[in-house]
Amino acid sequence: MKQVFIETYGCQMNVSDSELVISILENSGYSHTDEIEQADIIIFNTCSVREHAENRVLGRIANELSRKKQNTDLKIGVIGCMAQRMGRNLNNKDVDFVVGVDQYHKLPQILAELDEKSQFINETTIDKKQIYPDIYPTHQGNFNAFVTIMRGCNNFCTYCIVPYTRGRERSRPTEDILAEIDRVGQAGFKDVTLLGQNVNSYHYQDVNFAKLLQKADQIDSIKRLRFVTSHPKDLSDEVIGVMAESDKVCEHLHLAMQSGNDEVLRRMNRGYTAAHFYEIVQKLRAAIPNIAITTDIIAGFPGETDEQFMDTYKMMQKIRFDYAFTFKYSPRAGTKAAQYPEQIPEETRLKRLQKLIKLQQQITLEKYQEQIGKIKEIYVERLSKKSDKEVAGKSRDFKITVFPGSKALIGKFVQVKITDAVGWTLRGELTE
Ligand code: 5AD
Ligand code: SF4
Repeated sequence: MKQVFIETYGCQMNVSDSELVISILENSGYSHTDEIEQADIIIFNTCSVREHAENRVLGRIANELSRKKQNTDLKIGVIGCMAQRMGRNLNNKDVDFVVGVDQYHKLPQILAELDEKSQFINETTIDKKQIYPDIYPTHQGNFNAFVTIMRGCNNFCTYCIVPYTRGRERSRPTEDILAEIDRVGQAGFKDVTLLGQNVNSYHYQDVNFAKLLQKADQIDSIKRLRFVTSHPKDLSDEVIGVMAESDKVCEHLHLAMQSGNDEVLRRMNRGYTAAHFYEIVQKLRAAIPNIAITTDIIAGFPGETDEQFMDTYKMMQKIRFDYAFTFKYSPRAGTKAAQYPEQIPEETRLKRLQKLIKLQQQITLEKYQEQIGKIKEIYVERLSKKSDKEVAGKSRDFKITVFPGSKALIGKFVQVKITDAVGWTLRGELTE
């Protein structure tokens, strides 16, 4: 049996797509391996969101190509957003195949063709309707599962490559999603994350995202429900209401603010103002006490002045996110913002980024320290990395928590009293 190794970069959608690809290949007689040395086929599932992500993968591919000298039958391929973006141009990187995000079902056929004659294959046709019906991803890990509910994006934020690599929005049938959630729940994954580039615009017949969430909440085989990614402009009161009322939807939301300045937000084509974003945060906090809110921020968007940057900084001080993923703006060819004439020098972008990182580190630490004394439900996932006398898991508000315990606790939900906060990890002790 031929063995496939997949290395995944980028967002959760890519993690989920890798699971889909593993399933497609397993159904065609391949097996999946975590050991690159064992692989007959190496696949890189790639991300195009920033130049740095692309360069990293290109470096990795160049490194692994030397394996072909020892194993002349080894095939190396690229899938994901970079495959979609670069297609045939990846030929000169000496890879064997490039497969875009809508063509994964063709992988078995492509690999068979490569066995017959070694010739570069590029299959990156966009299929506007592709939702991979009838394929159940082989979920990796043990306790947390991603369930894709929609693919693609219609928003065209001016910095973002995703609408170009992943095409337009399309939603999976509600019944398929609910069946998959139950299936993963029965298989022991109790913490399920619904996935889409913009889950709030999920729409299938008369079911919108709020209704889908409500239905998913009724599934008894799971205990926790999360979702990413939400676009602030589409996060409705109805969704906030369902989050507040449902038992399983966790007290955690990732909501990308990107900037705290109206003019920058307008030029990003985000469709909301800083005041509107703040209002949503307040609504969420009023409806769901103790909700953890995390965000994404871009520093140095074209034309961003020092004052505009400081609006973002001040908004982060005002909102106090539990965590923020902060990025230096990276121009992506083909996007509108890459053509804006007022590109910010690298040095300024970096300086701004570092200022945001420093601020958020302090806020995150304080937010985590606020948890001391609380009793939290922890879903135990593994032994701690540092000691086999300790276990680690996640709280409903997505904070990693480590406490003394044996491996018998793995897979269980336990109540833990928080005693300390170290960096982004909570420490505690079992209460029972
Ligand atoms: N440059 C920097 N960051 C970007 N992101 C998306 N596109 C870019 C870009 N061109 C960030 C956004 C998004 C996250 C996934 O990546 O903050 O929310
Ligand atoms: Fe990267 Fe965006 Fe593609 Fe995800 S959808 S892999 S973040 S470019």
